[in-house]
Amino acid sequence: MSNPHPTYEALTAHYTRLHRYGHLQAMAWWDQACNMPPKGQEARAAALAEVAALIHRMRTDPQLPQQFERAAQEPLDDAQRANLREMQREWQSDNALPEALVQAKTLATSRCEHAWRTQRPANDWHGFLENFRPVLRIAREEAALLSAQNGLRPYDALMDRYEPGMTSETVERVFGDLRQWLPGLIARVVERQSRERPIEAQGPFPKAAQRALSLELMALLHFDFEAGRLDESAHPFSGGVPEDVRLTTRYREDDFVQSLMGTIHETGHARYEQNLPRELLGQPVALARSMAIHESQSLSFEMQLARSPGFVELIAPLLRKHFGAQPAFEPGNLHRLLTRVEPGFIRVDADEVTYPAHVILRFEIERALIEGDIEAEDIPALWDEKMQSLLGVDTRGNYRDGCMQDVHWPEALFGYFPCYTLGAMYAAQWFATLRRGTPDLDARIASGDLAPVFDWLRDNIWLQGSRWTTDELAQRASGEPLNPAHFKSHLESRYLG
Ligand code: CO
Repeated sequence: MSNPHPTYEALTAHYTRLHRYGHLQAMAWWDQACNMPPKGQEARAAALAEVAALIHRMRTDPQLPQQFERAAQEPLDDAQRANLREMQREWQSDNALPEALVQAKTLATSRCEHAWRTQRPANDWHGFLENFRPVLRIAREEAALLSAQNGLRPYDALMDRYEPGMTSETVERVFGDLRQWLPGLIARVVERQSRERPIEAQGPFPKAAQRALSLELMALLHFDFEAGRLDESAHPFSGGVPEDVRLTTRYREDDFVQSLMGTIHETGHARYEQNLPRELLGQPVALARSMAIHESQSLSFEMQLARSPGFVELIAPLLRKHFGAQPAFEPGNLHRLLTRVEPGFIRVDADEVTYPAHVILRFEIERALIEGDIEAEDIPALWDEKMQSLLGVDTRGNYRDGCMQDVHWPEALFGYFPCYTLGAMYAAQWFATLRRGTPDLDARIASGDLAPVFDWLRDNIWLQGSRWTTDELAQRASGEPLNPAHFKSHLESRYLG
């Protein structure tokens, strides 16, 4: 019997090869971050640049568009059509920008990011501005080019790279609603918690004990250690490939919560990767759906599951086992420690109630920047005003802990920030659906039976890969597209219930 879709087959072979090169690239990168001796640095950087160039050539192969057209004429089933759609989406975004702009962007962002590392601690906004202006100019040019090509608004065109299908109109509506009730909710929670006096945990918490605890938690969360590992690096990340996921964390001996929650968060990302559809691995349709959906998995683990009273009951004996018994590890007290809400300057240190305020502020500023409504000079005043109105925090003159705190803008990652809060909203939506289907969910979690959570996520999210658009995925999983009402009721029931 002759092959009914030879062109489609040739395309899948091409993407499988790309996946294999990507595999080696990811491992070399992990090794560089975790193990490499300093004298290996220069040669490794050269080797990685060589592989990156090879992968870029393959991804932008000029033959591909004709092959897409021919493959579309072949008798393909729905999953194959979805794969072809994702191949084309990938190709378009890889080819959208002229070589010269890509190079200018690499140059401007690496200069800006490199200088930012010392300018941030020095609180040097004016120095930063010098390098940031060219980054912004290039990002606007990039947005205009992408927008001309796909018809989206300039900011949406940038956001589409991380969150395909999401528009600023939707984000504006969702965040606009959040802006109405969030500051009031934060005030009520802070007022209520001011009457609580949870017992603080007493350190130090030895690194070896924290690592042993991390590994035990990952096992409890069904991380597949035959298909991944945990290491330590200066900047924690999750990398590798679905067949071999590499997580890293870092340990502070005076605070165990950071590595504990960091590991649980990354394990959520990891389990998504480890459970992407195996038979299609290497194909674009088998990739994670989007950044918000990825974040909805890490936050399902870190916020929805790990901070639920039932899970805290599971953690308490593990803390006693690894750090020795102390009054702070009583489950009720531990839960109060893990759900404390405190408005602060720094996004990455924020709790789940104040976190969205940090994201709303960044979204409003970066969209105005990209659409040309404001200039880079205008950022600090807007930042101060929004921090004051959203969180009641005074950032005047404090660029270091204000508008210079994130690496996203120096690296031109405009359009990424909304994904964090959209992810938190999807996570709340997934758990609302789970609770409807499993009314005794919390009792089962407390008894150590986490299967209902993992089975639901595996069937509805992980195994779906990129088969559906994000709206379709949410609709199929939960019966509706993104509905932020679930996030609101989650926060109200956990913090005011
Ligand atoms: Co994450």
